Amino acid sequence: MEQVSHRERILVVDDESQVSDIIAQCLMLEGYHCDTADCTDHALSLCARNHYDLIISDIMMPGKTGIELLGFVRRLYPDVAIIMVTAVDDRATAVNALQLGAYGYVIKPFDLNEIFIGVVNALERRRLSIQSREYERRLENDVRQRTAEIQRREEEICLRLSAACGYRDLETGSHNRRLGLYSAVLAQELGWAGPAQDEIRISIAMHDIGKIGLPDNILRKPARLTDDEFAVIKTHTVIGARMLKGSDFSLLNMAHAIALSHHEKWDGTGYPYGLFGDEIPEPARICSVLDVYDALVHKRIYRSALPEEEALAIMTASRGAHFDPDIFDCFIDVLPRLRTIRAEVRDREE
Ligand SMILES: [Fe+2]
Ligand SMILES: [Fe+2]
Repeated sequence: MEQVSHRERILVVDDESQVSDIIAQCLMLEGYHCDTADCTDHALSLCARNHYDLIISDIMMPGKTGIELLGFVRRLYPDVAIIMVTAVDDRATAVNALQLGAYGYVIKPFDLNEIFIGVVNALERRRLSIQSREYERRLENDVRQRTAEIQRREEEICLRLSAACGYRDLETGSHNRRLGLYSAVLAQELGWAGPAQDEIRISIAMHDIGKIGLPDNILRKPARLTDDEFAVIKTHTVIGARMLKGSDFSLLNMAHAIALSHHEKWDGTGYPYGLFGDEIPEPARICSVLDVYDALVHKRIYRSALPEEEALAIMTASRGAHFDPDIFDCFIDVLPRLRTIRAEVRDREE
């Protein structure tokens, strides 16, 4: 008769070598690869060297019991199926073994057919459980990919929306990209969770989106603004907030808070509402530090770029007045990383 060759490898553990030899020979005749061990320690050392699909183990053995072996195997090799072999009067232990994760048990004295059926069943169950775990893993992977795709899409929509504003205001898209990257670094340093870091990176680009509602002659005026004109400029905060308010998405809620409050000052002298200290949402307090920094060190329609040293001197004088002192200190700490971002994302004319 032609022998069927299985790829599965089986380890038979019994302190009585006649028992393990008989089982192993019977299974080898069925085409399985088999090894034998005479105690738990021997079995574990074989497991460390070879890959097994199934272990058939006696429970009562000198030294560590088969139940202990079962515990080690479940922990170290969760994909290995294990069948326990037990004496007739040992049913309670057998049930316990099943609860601990054994795939089945055979009661001594056994008929070799029983062993064979147990082996086929256990291997099939193991195959199905590995397959279903694979399937779950693939599903999780798909969900992760889809989520990342949605995130990229959201980000692109937000950036394009803010870029639409850039067509009118001469403030560049690179300013918004830099603010996004700066804010993620600062938020991380402040201990924000990963998803919130992503949210500020994306939503901060919309801080000045309300400028889309301002008249060109004021927005693009290359000279100093009159008080009345400045009063108009200030309305970009509430216009932006109106555009972004009332969303179900936390990303847009954060964008709303930033658009509305990024010109508020820590000492209560900012606009539009003169909020004071912690009343100003944290994302807006972060934005105000980064927005001022990036604006000062880059060229604007009404002035040239300042050397960083000068910009920092001006900003330090406003620590605790314009800026939240803790966020400002954190900003100083991460400055070297912000400089790298500046070097990488330059304005077109730079
Ligand atoms: Fe602004
Ligand atoms: Fe800005």
